[in-house]
Amino acid sequence: MAHRRNCLILVFLIIVNKFYVDSRPLTLAKLQIQNCISQNVTRQPVIIDTDTDVDDLWAILYALNVPTIDVLAITTVGNAYSKPLYSGSNVLTFLDLIGCSSGVAVGYGVNLPLMSSGYTIPQSLLDSIDSYMTDPTCLNQSANIFLQPSPFSAIELIKLSLEYSTRPVDILVLGTMTNLATAISEDRSIVSKIGTLYFSCGQFKAINSYPSLIPNLTLATYPESEEMIDASPNVFLDVLAVQRVGMSGIKNIVAMPIHTQNTLLINLTQLNETLTKLNIQLKPFVLNFISSFARCTSSNPNGTYLKWWDNSAAQFMVQMQTNNSQGFCLRTQNVKSLYIMSADSHQFFGQGMINVETRLPNASGLVNYTICTEANSDIFLSEFLNKISSEKLYSCARQYSERFDIKLQQCMLKYEDTLQQTNMGKTVYFLKPIFLSMYLFIVLVII
Ligand SMILES: *[C@@H]1O[C@H](CO)[C@@H](O)[C@H](O)[C@H]1NC(C)=O
Ligand SMILES: *[C@@H]1O[C@H](CO)[C@@H](O)[C@H](O)[C@H]1NC(C)=O
Ligand SMILES: *[C@@H]1O[C@H](CO)[C@@H](O)[C@H](O)[C@H]1NC(C)=O
Ligand SMILES: *[C@@H]1O[C@H](CO)[C@@H](O)[C@H](O)[C@H]1NC(C)=O
Ligand SMILES: *[C@@H]1O[C@H](CO)[C@@H](O)[C@H](O)[C@H]1NC(C)=O
Ligand SMILES: *[C@@H]1O[C@H](CO)[C@@H](O)[C@H](O)[C@H]1NC(C)=O
Ligand SMILES: *[C@@H]1O[C@H](CO)[C@@H](O)[C@H](O)[C@H]1NC(C)=O
Ligand SMILES: *[C@@H]1O[C@H](CO)[C@@H](O)[C@H](O)[C@H]1NC(C)=O
Ligand SMILES: *[C@@H]1O[C@H](CO)[C@@H](O)[C@H](O)[C@H]1NC(C)=O
Repeated sequence: MAHRRNCLILVFLIIVNKFYVDSRPLTLAKLQIQNCISQNVTRQPVIIDTDTDVDDLWAILYALNVPTIDVLAITTVGNAYSKPLYSGSNVLTFLDLIGCSSGVAVGYGVNLPLMSSGYTIPQSLLDSIDSYMTDPTCLNQSANIFLQPSPFSAIELIKLSLEYSTRPVDILVLGTMTNLATAISEDRSIVSKIGTLYFSCGQFKAINSYPSLIPNLTLATYPESEEMIDASPNVFLDVLAVQRVGMSGIKNIVAMPIHTQNTLLINLTQLNETLTKLNIQLKPFVLNFISSFARCTSSNPNGTYLKWWDNSAAQFMVQMQTNNSQGFCLRTQNVKSLYIMSADSHQFFGQGMINVETRLPNASGLVNYTICTEANSDIFLSEFLNKISSEKLYSCARQYSERFDIKLQQCMLKYEDTLQQTNMGKTVYFLKPIFLSMYLFIVLVII
């Protein structure tokens, strides 16, 4: 009996010692890296993940001019409203044109969805989005092709920024969820470091508003159909990514649904009137940038289908972060939602359903979202124009060498030795003679 107990004690001690060696010095090395970065946490750190459509760049322009946030990185995804070659480079081009050529990291991300819907965005639309800034018939700007992206990929930037930020990081997703889903799949420990996830689009429709829950086979073939009813592209272009992120355990998820964005019409008359009323003079490039979308991307120059999509999500984020009761979003609602992805889901593909509990009281897998259900376009436009005309570019103020990703890289290289030593220590430390003689001593004494 005593023998067995001693063996157990020995095993216990080895485990305790092994745990000590495995965990503590590793944490120490990471702490050294964290201290070395010396992040300024006065402002709320934010990562913006984007598919680089034109409205994404409006959102970025807005966010860079908000004094309460610090944009740590912009990460790009190439599977939605831009072609892979343009998703990253157009963010760099845009940042350069607004005078922020090296202040914010741009990380290139994933180009394929986790699961393709089969839907392909018309090539002509992609072409006009990708060449919006440079096409002579649109903005006719020249791109600085020598600009460099971050040394880190989008996935690394998301994982490492969350790991080393001393303050939880908010993430603003303006395209598909593919980058975030990939980062979470690779390192689940980042989930607890996400402050709030803000999502542009998504559809949140009561399950009772569907006449039948039986898939309607007479509708066009799903998911290849162009007619996604009123589902949101950021969802249906990668539903699997939305499901994974939703179910990952992120505490707070906030969405600016497509239905609410659809109430914020781009109306150039109203834009002109608001600029006059607020006595705002935008730089010609910025004015053209926000007012040429219909002219450059559509056969209908009235552009009545255009909305203030992603920049309303950015503005909703700032309203929520600052708890601003005077903001443009007049009403929010807490909902539990789910997105179905079954080969037979047909008309439910990409549709977000709420009030599911009314039909299925024990439904599991529902995800909590806070959504904006009512918005005021006058308040929205004033705030947007005020910020983008301020030209403060708070998040661009840092020197290149002081940028979060560049500091991160320097500090990781600096403390690489510590990490290495720790890894060596892991294998030999607990077998050092002093520890071995201690184990032996304890065993002998107890016997
Ligand atoms: C941190 O950022 C704030 C706001 O941008 C600035 O006022 C302050 O000087 C910065 N602090 C340090 C130590 O750099
Ligand atoms: C585009 O810009 C170039 C110079 O940068 C100019 O020569 C050319 O006329 C412009 N084209 C149009 C259509 O405005
Ligand atoms: C299926 O869709 C077609 C076309 O929209 C519609 O006419 C029909 O009523 C739908 N059937 C059911 C059962 O919802
Ligand atoms: C808005 O104002 C610009 C000039 O500032 C003008 O060229 C444009 O036609 C106006 N648009 C509308 C819709 O009023
Ligand atoms: C655009 O805004 C003006 C002024 O607010 C309004 O009179 C007009 O009806 C709007 N046009 C559309 C198409 O919404
Ligand atoms: C654009 O609006 C004008 C005035 O509201 C209208 O006359 C014209 O037909 C519209 N054009 C298109 C292509 O819808
Ligand atoms: C947000 O503001 C409301 C009223 O404006 C207040 O009751 C609430 O405590 C605030 N919440 C936070 C987290 O500051
Ligand atoms: C829901 O679950 C409870 C407890 O497991 C069970 O008593 C009840 O019948 C279930 N309701 C339905 C509609 O399945
Ligand atoms: C969702 O919110 C409800 C309260 O409305 C809470 O009881 C539940 O635990 C939340 N679910 C998750 C997954 O956070």
